[in-house]
Amino acid sequence: MKKKVAVLISGRGSNMQALARACDNPDFPAEIALVISNKEDAPGLDWAKQNGLPTLLIDHRSFTDRTEFEHALIRAFEEAGSDIVCLAGFMRVLSPHFFQHWRKPVLNIHPSLLPKYKGLHTHQAALDSGETEHGCSVHFVTEDLDSGEVILQKSVKVESDDTAETLAARVLEQEHLAYPEALKMIAGRA
Ligand code: GRF
Repeated sequence: MKKKVAVLISGRGSNMQALARACDNPDFPAEIALVISNKEDAPGLDWAKQNGLPTLLIDHRSFTDRTEFEHALIRAFEEAGSDIVCLAGFMRVLSPHFFQHWRKPVLNIHPSLLPKYKGLHTHQAALDSGETEHGCSVHFVTEDLDSGEVILQKSVKVESDDTAETLAARVLEQEHLAYPEALKMIAGRA
């Protein structure tokens, strides 16, 4: 039985697309049950609709507080029968309260070799530190930002003429490989 995945996005959604392409394979152990965006104008939301995925807009601004927003997310996960949640460029932090009420695996893709460079602007930070290697990590999400157990990482070489943009583009290619690979591992055992 395929595991049902809820994907949360806020923007472009290229990692969601990579997950969706992987899920198209009949042998892949997961399927996308729902795509949720907290932003109405997220380009990824249009792509998901156009590609026949079930979508939901849950705008955090329409709730009085974070707890209400998180309950709405959890209700949507439950209604879709979700076994796994994948954050894919989802720009809201989930609170300890969320993790008290949602006990199933939550995965995220982060554009650095964690534990290095948590948070934003990771490519510039790697360049500023003179790194020769950079990359991406798929990790479990916990209440501590970008600090849950790493599932897998993929790295790229930093070139002397790299800018944050060229580096981001090469890391993104690796993200699109890493996320489906990690989901396959977790769905195979979840
Ligand atoms: C990616 O770089 C991901 O690592 C980070 O946010 C970005 C989302 O890009 N968490 P996309 O929306 O998946 O294209």
